[in-house]
Amino acid sequence: DEAARQAAFDAAVAADERIEPRDWMPDAYRASLVRQMAQHAHSEIIGMQPEANWITRAPSLRRKAILMAKVQDEAGHGLYLYSAAETLGTSREELLDKLHAGRQRYSSIFNYPTLTWADVGAIGWLVDGAAITNQVPLCRCSYGPYARAMVRICKEESFHQRQGYELLLALSRGTPAQHAMAQDAVDRWWWPSLMMFGPPDEESGHSAQSMAWKIKRHSNDELRRRFIEISGPQADALGLTLPTGEIDWDEFKEVLKGNGPCNEQRIAQRRRAHEEGAWVRDAAVAYAAKHGEGKPS
Ligand code: 3HC
Repeated sequence: DEAARQAAFDAAVAADERIEPRDWMPDAYRASLVRQMAQHAHSEIIGMQPEANWITRAPSLRRKAILMAKVQDEAGHGLYLYSAAETLGTSREELLDKLHAGRQRYSSIFNYPTLTWADVGAIGWLVDGAAITNQVPLCRCSYGPYARAMVRICKEESFHQRQGYELLLALSRGTPAQHAMAQDAVDRWWWPSLMMFGPPDEESGHSAQSMAWKIKRHSNDELRRRFIEISGPQADALGLTLPTGEIDWDEFKEVLKGNGPCNEQRIAQRRRAHEEGAWVRDAAVAYAAKHGEGKPS
């Protein structure tokens, strides 16, 4: 009966066992995972936009190849996460419809513009760095498919972070103008990167329950603090300085309300890409029907 299944679920979570798709789970656990995993997946594919802005303008073939590989990785991360979310009984179509309708979120960080080439470095170093700090604990999340998706994503994220760091190092050690460009990008991306960890703990509506279910393994502020501690020595090694002061939580709230610098642009471009890509989806379905679902051609 329900009480026995709830007790078995609670015992499995308490014992740090993985909950798998066919296990019984509370509806609220399922719903919270769909919410977080969908938003994580949406973040990955929206995150392709700010970086892709510089693929055609990369300063060398090497930098262009690295950036293309990274943007392709983000698309792949989105697909892993949509697939993991589908194990909870939802569908990619449903999740994308919610994103396009503004009924599901994506990370606030991607509502900022990439104004110079140095932004590609700042995103790699700071945004992917923050994502790693957030995602490593998620490898121990109680829901099996999410935790396993994180293991693979974290490996690729490390390459993203290293290439961003190395790009900034090249600029920082370049001409005074290049150094200034790197510093300007860090100044603009530092605070929004800290906002990726979510609101302060006392304003985090999901944390208590998410931590009880062992989805979230550390609080927003704890991971934010961990990221700040990691970033200090790296900024020193880069010869760049991190802004000092406080996070502007009003800005955070405005961006979440849709009033960030690029919110409309990001969603409009996403909707357009979805519409323009309809023929690819139709062709894939027609091909699968003709050649038998999933049989290798
Ligand atoms: N951007 C947008 N929304 C945010 C946010 C942010 N930076 N931080 C918090 N929120 C939202 C939450 O989704 C929640 O709203 P909802 O109820 O409508 O979902 C509300 O603000 C309150 O926040 P909580 O702290 O209560 O919510 P969570 O417990 O879900 O914690 C989180 C927020 C830490 C972001 C958590 O959801 C999480 O760890 N998600 C997985 C990580 C993720 O999504 N990362 C995306 C980063 S970008 C990326 O990975 C791409 C990489 O390749 C660069």
